[in-house]
Amino acid sequence: MTALHAPSHRLSPPPRGWLKSLLPTAIYRSLTGDLPIPRQPSVTPPNLYAEAYAQWAASARQERKAEQHPIDELLAEHHFLRRMFESMQTEAVYVAQRKPMDLDFWANAVDVVGNFALLIHWRKKANHLFPLIRDRGFSEHLDKLEKEQDQDIATTLELCDAVQDGDREGVVRLVSLYVGSKRRHMAREEESVLVPAKAALTPEDVASLRASFDQVDEGAMPGAGRAHYYSVGVDVMNHTGIDPD
Ligand SMILES: [Fe+2]
Repeated sequence: MTALHAPSHRLSPPPRGWLKSLLPTAIYRSLTGDLPIPRQPSVTPPNLYAEAYAQWAASARQERKAEQHPIDELLAEHHFLRRMFESMQTEAVYVAQRKPMDLDFWANAVDVVGNFALLIHWRKKANHLFPLIRDRGFSEHLDKLEKEQDQDIATTLELCDAVQDGDREGVVRLVSLYVGSKRRHMAREEESVLVPAKAALTPEDVASLRASFDQVDEGAMPGAGRAHYYSVGVDVMNHTGIDPD
């Protein structure tokens, strides 16, 4: 996956549905022996960026184009992803308890945290926001975030493999690793880049990012935009009793 991070940090066009395409061949492999139940307190901050998220979700439900400030959109996507992580952790407890592994649930979860998080959310930042603000005092923070992202991509792919193989132990271990690391990464990104960047953007920057983000949404899922990932995410959350709002 290092190729995704060529020096310019630009990503190639999205191989649509690349993670999910791996899953129909999934083999359910039952492991013997008891696995430890992961115990991680929920760290989803209640209602953090809830307003931005409500606006984002409304446009997804109505399948209309976003009119949101691009930074608010990224923060809303974090809010959505935090709820996804909470769902995955909840379901991982069942996996650890050796209950039947719900392959549909995990296929949908990796569709969102792989395809959406990487090919849509990360692409908006890596290809558009970061190059725009890099020379405005953000280069040190961005270097750190890009390095962490390389590790997160590797973990995401490992998680995808574990789901495909029905590898319970791998799923439990990787969800815990992935979720912990992503939560720290997102909090750092919000604090050191997204929130301060909002104040540094000119109206022209905002208009140009808005246009680029629309293209990313549309290009990744023609005709459906964010509506597809929103509805898959809501299914995942409902399955585990996590409030999608
Ligand atoms: Fe992010």
